[in-house]
Amino acid sequence: MKRIAFVLCLAMLFGMANPLTGSAPAVAPAKAITLPKPVMNGGIPLMEALSKRKSVREVSGKPVSEQDLSNLLWAAWGVNRPDGRRTVPTSRNKQEAELFVVLESGVWRYDAAGNALVQLSPVDARSRFGGAPLTLVYAAKAGDDAGGMHVGSMYQNVGLYCASVGLGNVVKSTGRAELDSVLRLPAGYKTYVVQSIGWPR
Ligand SMILES: Cc1cc2nc3c(=O)[nH]c(=O)nc-3n(C[C@H](O)[C@H](O)[C@H](O)COP(=O)(O)O)c2cc1C
Repeated sequence: MKRIAFVLCLAMLFGMANPLTGSAPAVAPAKAITLPKPVMNGGIPLMEALSKRKSVREVSGKPVSEQDLSNLLWAAWGVNRPDGRRTVPTSRNKQEAELFVVLESGVWRYDAAGNALVQLSPVDARSRFGGAPLTLVYAAKAGDDAGGMHVGSMYQNVGLYCASVGLGNVVKSTGRAELDSVLRLPAGYKTYVVQSIGWPR
């Protein structure tokens, strides 16, 4: 029952038709925040980051700073060249993936070109993913062999960034579909995996 109420609440907040009444909601302009410019130098040497990469499941409630958030989103899916190409390779440069961010302030879509977050919902959905201060939700085309590869490149980049600054992270396929019914995924997309991030306890 609680789950149905949660989904209905998110569905309405996300601007979808009320699944019970079919009525269309009023359309409010999406709230967006510009992230701090990602820091594209520094960090620990790559081989050291690889030696430290591991899953960390116990994290504290201490928030992840906006700078770390910007840096790790850029590592995952940022634009790293003037022609719009990304930090991860994609099949024929189709860039068919979406990255969503679950924070206390709501659920957001990462706009890589704008280095911004676009709010999809103000609802705090962190408890749906174990309560970490930050969870990334990775979506790509269903049935596309390359989809999982693209997502894997993304979460590995984030894992290495986390290792370099001491953040904990764990990739999870359990619970990955928690927001599927409410995220506005492009046609044919599905959620592949989530990644919870926070400071180790
Ligand atoms: C695609 C994928 C799905 C995973 N799903 C879960 C999960 O649902 N729950 C979980 O606790 N860990 C999950 N993990 C983390 C693995 O259990 C973990 O990577 C593995 O035990 C090796 O530990 P390490 O990452 O510290 O090397 C997942 C990892 C991957 C790559």
